[in-house]
Amino acid sequence: VTLVGNDDPTVRTVTSPSDVATGPSPAVPVRNDLRALVGYHSPQLEVEVRLNTNESPVAPPERWLDDLSAALRRIPFNRYPDRRATALRQAVATYHGVEADQVLCGTGSNEVLQCLLLAYGGAGRRAVTFEPSYTLHRHIAQVTATEVVSVDRRPEDFSIDLPRVAQVVEEIAPTLTFVCSPNNPTGRAESLETIGAVLQMAPGLVVVDEAYGQFAPASALQLVHDRVAGYERLVVVRTFSKTFSLAAMRLGYMVADSAVVAGCDTVVLPYNVDAVSQAAGCLALQYVQEMEDRVGEIVVARGRLEEALKALPVTLWPSDANFILFRPDTVPADDVWAQLVRRSVLVRNCSGWPGLYGCLRVTVGTPPENDRFVEALTAVLA
Ligand SMILES: Cc1ncc(COP(=O)(O)O)c(C=O)c1O
Repeated sequence: VTLVGNDDPTVRTVTSPSDVATGPSPAVPVRNDLRALVGYHSPQLEVEVRLNTNESPVAPPERWLDDLSAALRRIPFNRYPDRRATALRQAVATYHGVEADQVLCGTGSNEVLQCLLLAYGGAGRRAVTFEPSYTLHRHIAQVTATEVVSVDRRPEDFSIDLPRVAQVVEEIAPTLTFVCSPNNPTGRAESLETIGAVLQMAPGLVVVDEAYGQFAPASALQLVHDRVAGYERLVVVRTFSKTFSLAAMRLGYMVADSAVVAGCDTVVLPYNVDAVSQAAGCLALQYVQEMEDRVGEIVVARGRLEEALKALPVTLWPSDANFILFRPDTVPADDVWAQLVRRSVLVRNCSGWPGLYGCLRVTVGTPPENDRFVEALTAVLA
């Protein structure tokens, strides 16, 4: 058994000998179209420096925790939560300058993506992704029996090849087209011109996943505010997991035309956002300045990390997010990943993902964590 930590869901993940056990076969087989699919799991190893899942390296503000503790006392725990998450929807709407009926909240933005695919994808419908990108778009599409058509990004800089997009969307008429901006795992944000161009070409919903949107120069929501042609088909998905430092809470949302939100309401499970998460999200939106300060600190730390990487034998790509994609030039990526783990530093091994041969992705951590990573990587590449 090799230690590879390759967490593409299309590839079996092996992180330790115990991982190779396939488990008992179910008495009833899973759906035929799911048999080839492996669940999406990123390795969670016990290490001192975790730089593999693009979380915020720091906790939310102490005062937010005090506020949440007080709010917990007011929650009627014997009752179901507000099904419509009214206060949270309103708070998100105010934050983005839209109406509450344009917002749908979910248990992480992954649930929101799933709602979109359940409502607008499904058997006989198609979704387009621009690869390499966030694997869950493709994965949830497959789980919901939506046919996925992938358009390769340009290999040199991972930009979206618009003439190719025009061809593909004309040919297959997708009901959903996913644009991840900034793109995970390659790092760059798309310009509003590019997103606008995709919106003009693609006939269905254009879903812009802005999980790292606070790091980007602009949000696709600007196109909604500007009411560009087709803005009713634009969906922007965001999360509290990254810059709001709330990955443990599982809270995300989308902003879209109210009719698109209403469509998702037909598939969303009742009470999908629990009362604690609703309170936590409302309170987090009272600390936007603190969140933006954290973004500023991460951008400074990212600059230092980029400089340190440039001094090593690696190829790296510019980032508009809180992670950096790089390819070791002299040592195979699987070996680098495993040797970093031995030094108690965990990064994401993307080396087996389509279009990312030999690549690793490191999340920007605290300055001491970044130093540990650079020190370990320098030793491994020496
Ligand atoms: C691009 C992108 N979208 C969505 C998510 C999921 O975030 P959440 O924690 O809100 O489900 C992630 C998490 O890594 C991500 O990278």
